[in-house]
Amino acid sequence: MTNSFAKDVLAGLTAKSKYLSSKYFYDDNGSRIFQEIMNMPEYYLTDAEFEILSMQSKQILEALEFSTPFNIIELGAGDGFKTFKLLEYLVNNNVNFNYVPIDISQEAMDILSERLKKRLPGINIKPKVGDYFEILSANKDSDYPSLLLFLGGNIGNYLQDKANELIKLFNDNMKVRDKLLIGFDLKKNPITIHNAYYDKHGITKRFNLNLLLRINRELNADFKIDDFDFYCHYNPITGEVKSYIVSLTKQRVNIKALNKYVEFDYNELIWTELSKKYALDEICNLAETNNFKLKSNFLDCKHYFADSLWEKLP
Ligand code: AVJ
Repeated sequence: MTNSFAKDVLAGLTAKSKYLSSKYFYDDNGSRIFQEIMNMPEYYLTDAEFEILSMQSKQILEALEFSTPFNIIELGAGDGFKTFKLLEYLVNNNVNFNYVPIDISQEAMDILSERLKKRLPGINIKPKVGDYFEILSANKDSDYPSLLLFLGGNIGNYLQDKANELIKLFNDNMKVRDKLLIGFDLKKNPITIHNAYYDKHGITKRFNLNLLLRINRELNADFKIDDFDFYCHYNPITGEVKSYIVSLTKQRVNIKALNKYVEFDYNELIWTELSKKYALDEICNLAETNNFKLKSNFLDCKHYFADSLWEKLP
């Protein structure tokens, strides 16, 4: 893990246009800052998806057209806060299902299963820690139909080719008629989107700069984070929010574990994140391109977010 982090940091900071992957935001500290982001009023994504799963669990269950028992497999379950509403509905209605949350963090899975067992005593939960696809491919042999959950708008972090690659991998690891419920942040008033990422409290800035602190800690580097700032930009035509770290001075940083000095120009950028916003027709295309049938889009009342339900075709 640390090893691939080192490799990726080296590749990203020696590239002509510097970049670091947003997947490295989520160390313990970064996960805590992300919790703060989800609690900001400007970060509408969490509330919107929470509303969808609170208000439309019944419709989602009906649209599955599954026999029971079935499996619910959640990719990147994290704290499972939103999913709780769906699980609660199913348990309260005596639906027979197995819940398999998957996450890379053992700690997150321990906390999640303990909490769920307490709050939903009837639940059948089998948390898994590790690689999505190893666990998914084992599930292909299940006698029961499966619903895959990929929530939170995480698909937005992937460039188009990578998004297709990931969705194709999901498809390869599903049985015909299995379903995928996938969360998309939708295009909307650009100011609303801008404010969710360029927040006035500076929490998203801290979230980004934490990546430099992580490099300091794990790769023995000497980034002075006061010499860096944060910038992000929403392009309402492409739907792309792009986030950057900005070097405020011409400076040199020593990354001892990489045996490498990295030079920064005055105002040089490190691209850190893509958060792509989708139009409904783009969601439909993404499904069709990857051998899925779009069964239904579940939207919040403001039409800010969509949980899109797809069926694997033969
Ligand atoms: C967790 C990937 C959906 O892109 O909106 C929040 C992460 N980045 N604020 C997103 C994030 C900046 C988030 N996702």
